[in-house]
Amino acid sequence: MSGSQTPASLARLLGHWNLGASPAYRELADVVRLLVLDGRVPLDVALPSERSLAATLGISRTTVTAAYALLREQGFLSSGQGSRGRTCIPRRGAPGTTPEGGAELSGAPGLALPDGLLDLAYASLPASGEVVHRAFAAALTELPALLPGFGYDALGVAPLREAIAARYSAAGVPTTMHQILVTSGAQHALNIILRTLGGRSAKVLVEHPSYPNALDAIRAAGCRLVPVPMPPPPVGKAGWDIDAVEAALRQQRPAMAYVVPDFHNPTGRLMPDAQRRRLVRAAAASGTVLVVDETLRELNLDCAPSTPLAAFSPAVVSIGSLSKSHWAGLRTGWIRAGEPLIQRFAAARTTMDLGGPVVEQLAAAHLVNALTEPLPARLAFLRDNRDTVLELIAGDLPTWQTERPDGGLSVWCRLPAPLSTALTVIAPDFGIRLAAGPRFGIGGAFEHYLRVPFTLPPEQLETAVLSLRSAQDRLNSSPQLRRELNRAPAVAIA
Ligand SMILES: Cc1ncc(COP(=O)(O)O)c(C=O)c1O
Repeated sequence: MSGSQTPASLARLLGHWNLGASPAYRELADVVRLLVLDGRVPLDVALPSERSLAATLGISRTTVTAAYALLREQGFLSSGQGSRGRTCIPRRGAPGTTPEGGAELSGAPGLALPDGLLDLAYASLPASGEVVHRAFAAALTELPALLPGFGYDALGVAPLREAIAARYSAAGVPTTMHQILVTSGAQHALNIILRTLGGRSAKVLVEHPSYPNALDAIRAAGCRLVPVPMPPPPVGKAGWDIDAVEAALRQQRPAMAYVVPDFHNPTGRLMPDAQRRRLVRAAAASGTVLVVDETLRELNLDCAPSTPLAAFSPAVVSIGSLSKSHWAGLRTGWIRAGEPLIQRFAAARTTMDLGGPVVEQLAAAHLVNALTEPLPARLAFLRDNRDTVLELIAGDLPTWQTERPDGGLSVWCRLPAPLSTALTVIAPDFGIRLAAGPRFGIGGAFEHYLRVPFTLPPEQLETAVLSLRSAQDRLNSSPQLRRELNRAPAVAIA
C-alpha cells in the first residue's frame, strides 16, 4: 500500500490548473486525472482530504467535493474508507467509465483487448531473462568474498567500475575505474549531477522535446530550463539545429547542457559526428558542463556507430544505464567524468543514499562484460517492431506524420491537430495508456505530438494502433468533448 499525497505537493503538481475555461471542479478533476495517467501522482495513494485541499488551493470545499466525485465516477479514485479515496486507473468496461455529459467513451466494438491497459506510456523492454538470471547466479558465488567488508561504497564495487571503464576504453574513450561512479540508474545519475553542479536558478540547456523525467529532475532542482528546439523533420533525418544550440550556449551561458545524442528520446535521432564536434566546442567556449545521457546508446537499429561525445573532450560528463540494454529493473547506471568531479559526485550522492546494493552491482558487472550477448535478439525484435508500427500508423492513421527513428524504442508522431492531451485523457477507455506530447516539453508545447513506443509484441501493437484510431475517431466526432479535454496542456507540465 502506498502513502498519501499532501495538499502542498498536489498543489505544486497542479500548477496553474484553474484556467477558467469551464466549471472549476471539472478543471480540477481533469488535471488530477492527467497527473495520474502521467504517473506523476502514483497509483494507490490517498488524495488530500477535501477540506485540506480546498484550503491549500484557496477554493471552496464544494469544488473539491465535486471534483473528487467526478474522479470516482470516472474510475480514477477509489471509494476507500472515509472520505479519502485512493488513486486508481479505471478498469475497461467497469462502471464509471462514462464521463458526465453522457459522452460514452467505450472502446471500439469488436476489439479483443487483453485484460488491463496496453501501455504506450513507457518505452521499455522486458528483461533479457536468461542472461540476467545467469549474472545473478554468478554474483551470488562472488558475494562471500565481499561479506567481511562494511558494504558501504559510494563509488560502486570495483568489478563493475572496471567493467564499465573497459567498455568506454573499447569504444575509443580511454577510461579508468576512478572515472566511474555507479548509480541506481540514469535518472539517479542526473540527480547527483544536478545536486553537484546545478544550483538554484542555474540555467540548464535542454533539447526541446526531451526526456520528461529529466525535465522534471532539472525543474525539481530549482534550475531554469533553456530549451532549444529540435528541428521538425523534413525527411526524417533532421538531426539537431546545431546553429541554434551554439547561439543559446553563447548568449545564455548555461551552467549545464543536458543532451541525448544517441537515439534521442523521444525522436530517436542520432547526432552526426560533425555536430558532436561543434557541440563540444561551443560548450567549452561558454563554460557549460556538457552532460550526455547515453542510456539508449546500445539501441542502434541501423546506423553506422557514432563517436561517444566524451571522445571529443575530457570535460564531458557521460551518463549510462543498463535499463534499455538489459532491464530497467536492475536499477543500475553510472556516471563517467574526470576523477576530481567523480569524487564530488560521490560526496553529493551521500546526501541521497550511501551506495548501491552489492549483489546487483556484481551481477551488473557480468552483464556489462557480456553486453553483446542479449543485444542482437533485442535489436532484431525492435527493428521488426519499428517497421511494423510505422506501417500500422501509415495504414490506420494516415493523417499522422512519422519520423523513422535511427534507434531507441519509440516513434515521435505529428498529429493532424493538437489532440495529444485529449487522446491521453480518453485513452484508458480504449484500453491504452499514453504519455501526452506536452510531457516532453515546456510551456504546453507538443500538443501536436505523441510518442508511440514499439516495445509491445506485434499483435498488441496492432491492437494499440487500432485503439489510437478509435480514440481519435471519438474526438473527431465530438468537437465539444475535444475542446473540454484539450484545455489542460499548460497544467500537464506544471
Ligand atoms: C534518455 C533517458 N534517460 C534516462 C532514462 C532513465 O533511465 P534509468 O532507468 O537508468 O533511470 C530513460 C528511460 O527511458 C531515458 O530514455
